[in-house]
Amino acid sequence: MIKLNRRIAAIKPSATMAAEARATEMKAAGIDVISLAAGEPDFDTPEHIKDAARRALAEGFTHYTPVSGTMALKQAICAKLARDSGLAYEPAEILASAGAKQAEANVIAALFDEGDQVIIPTPAWVSFVAMVNLSGAEALLLPCPESDAFQLDPARLREVLTPRTRGILLNSPSNPTGAVYSAEQLAALARVLLEHDLWIMSDDVYEHMSYDGPVAHLFAIEPRLKPRGIIFNSLSKTYAMTGWRIGFAAGPREVITAASRLQSQNSGNPNSLTQVAAIEALTGSQAEVATMVAEFRARRELTVRRIRALPGFRLPHVPQGAFYCFPNISALIGARLDGRTVTDGNALADLILNEAQVALVGGNDFGAPDHVRISYATSIANLNRAFDRIEGLLKRLSA
Ligand SMILES: Cc1ncc(COP(=O)(O)O)c(C=O)c1O
Repeated sequence: MIKLNRRIAAIKPSATMAAEARATEMKAAGIDVISLAAGEPDFDTPEHIKDAARRALAEGFTHYTPVSGTMALKQAICAKLARDSGLAYEPAEILASAGAKQAEANVIAALFDEGDQVIIPTPAWVSFVAMVNLSGAEALLLPCPESDAFQLDPARLREVLTPRTRGILLNSPSNPTGAVYSAEQLAALARVLLEHDLWIMSDDVYEHMSYDGPVAHLFAIEPRLKPRGIIFNSLSKTYAMTGWRIGFAAGPREVITAASRLQSQNSGNPNSLTQVAAIEALTGSQAEVATMVAEFRARRELTVRRIRALPGFRLPHVPQGAFYCFPNISALIGARLDGRTVTDGNALADLILNEAQVALVGGNDFGAPDHVRISYATSIANLNRAFDRIEGLLKRLSA
């Protein structure tokens, strides 16, 4: 047996990426799989963004840039933060990375140490726990019940804060639940967060996928939190740019400098052409974002309706953001088909993939094994076909 680094050996592959990879493999083997597993928009990157990259390539912008991104990109990110969230940042407070994921991993590694505790309200995106564990810190999972629409209760937060608590990771709109904190809820959380000295990390990657009005920003609602706040955002979801790999962190200069130092040693600058495309995305026309969001809204209506019609699936709250629904499937636990038993969300997702050729992600790795995650980042026609198949399969299950 090869001896691996202890922390690396403990990392599991990302459950969402594994589900999507299995669907892709089955498709390559000629099986007609419909994927509702993807964590990415199915739209093409808008043409004006691609044009900017083509121009940069033609002009030979193909060399190293400053590690944390070009000054022009960092200025565009500052302008975006002011425009969308009313927050003032300077270029020295910005780190551009290969996706929000890299910015998050680098900042978390820079900030936390063994003995520290970082709170992750669950259900949560699968990578947060791995990133915190890699830093040596302990991830404290704080379950947020479905009856609270998966939102963190400020009183519950106050109860778990200890002198070891050094950080908290918030994500609104949420992957996987689609929950969005209102301005009032953020203000209530802010009152508790002000009482304790910890880093507040806000993952805003689904900020524009919000169907009941713009998302309020915690650091705009309570500016006293901004000096110990770090924003993570990405162009992946908003501009359908997942493959380009560009995202960023915004936060206090010392934190950004430390994370940039780490980035300088383990990867370097984000792709030069992508940086030029990102400037166009952030500063150019936003019309296509609105078109994509309108389409997601229509798909959400259909997805909610079809989930609520599935026997054994419960979806009490309409998700307000992102492009996921996270129904409860606990009524199906114990159900059987041909000698196989549904033991949890992962088992149900496996059964649906193998028997109905529809890929979903089980809720286990999000910290909610009674659930499955359904992505509606696919066409209405695909959604209808997928739900027809799932309905057919559920009729075959016996109690
Ligand atoms: C909550 C959340 N944060 C961050 C990311 C990473 O996005 P990026 O493509 O920018 O690395 C994802 C991607 O699925 C996500 O769901």
